[in-house]
Amino acid sequence: MTLYRKAAPDAAALVEAPETEAFRADVLKGLGAPRKSLPAKHFYDTAGSRLFDQICTLDEYYPTRTELGILEAHAADIARHAGSGAKLVEFGAGSLVKVRVLLDALDAPAAFVPIDISADHLVAASAALALDHPALQITPVVGDFTRSLVLPAFAGRRTLGFFPGSTIGNFTPAEARHFLAEAGRTLGPGALLVLGVDLKKDKARLEAAYDDAAGVTAAFNLNLLARINRELSGTFDLSRFAHRAFFNEEESRIEMHIESLADQVVRAAGCTFRFARGETIHTENSYKYAPGEVADLARSAGWEMDEAWTDSENLFGVFLLSRA
Ligand code: TRP
Repeated sequence: MTLYRKAAPDAAALVEAPETEAFRADVLKGLGAPRKSLPAKHFYDTAGSRLFDQICTLDEYYPTRTELGILEAHAADIARHAGSGAKLVEFGAGSLVKVRVLLDALDAPAAFVPIDISADHLVAASAALALDHPALQITPVVGDFTRSLVLPAFAGRRTLGFFPGSTIGNFTPAEARHFLAEAGRTLGPGALLVLGVDLKKDKARLEAAYDDAAGVTAAFNLNLLARINRELSGTFDLSRFAHRAFFNEEESRIEMHIESLADQVVRAAGCTFRFARGETIHTENSYKYAPGEVADLARSAGWEMDEAWTDSENLFGVFLLSRA
């Protein structure tokens, strides 16, 4: 197994991990703005990735098990579309649970390229997968898939992209279109893309999924502040902030925020930040789509929708796209 890093490490990277530098810049910018926000990709340090895996097992968090069920029901269809000897590329690979369903169904897959921002998590998951698929060439790529990537070249027939988990919903619709167009370029002519998207549904069900009774999603959100404390000498008192998640009907998105419970001053990355009581840091959006909206979005980014699958309650959609 060869591990690729997107960029060669420079001198500074030997002193400090490049992720920490990007994190510092984003924290200074995001907390210094009049409306505070932080990019969601920084959730996924080692602690955050572990908490995220826990979210995926929660009763309230229906997307993971629902998507897995849809994939299991249609893995043979996907394998038929992909044909023999396909190359599989996963964006935001995480724990590599879902892709096993595809790998088990595909006929003699030539290679698997999981891309993820969390190096530790990716390497551990790839090593575990390699034990179960000894003949498969696995090439993990550590990188930020929200930017354009150049993937290692492989022999193989069709390229099959895989973007599950409704991660596409964490982009704005304009960013999602940009991502889909870029992914089309990355995957190349004739590629297919299996895309998982959480669907519009009643507000109570949506909000419970992002504010579970056991408080795991709250811990995941607040881990951002803990990460600032650990990596950027922050002074956040986590007991003076709270997790907030609600459905914004107008934008059709769940918003996650961290709310300050008091007027307070916090230091981080050598700077001072003021919080008014009730002020929030906006940490994530999770857009919800109707199936027809997914088709329009895909088409506007150069993809055709060949198949649209859902579960019996229409909670989640798995779409098979092909490059137009
Ligand atoms: N993309 C998924 C979603 O929006 C998973 C996810 C990303 C998530 N960030 C999250 C789930 C924060 C819970 C909380 O549902």
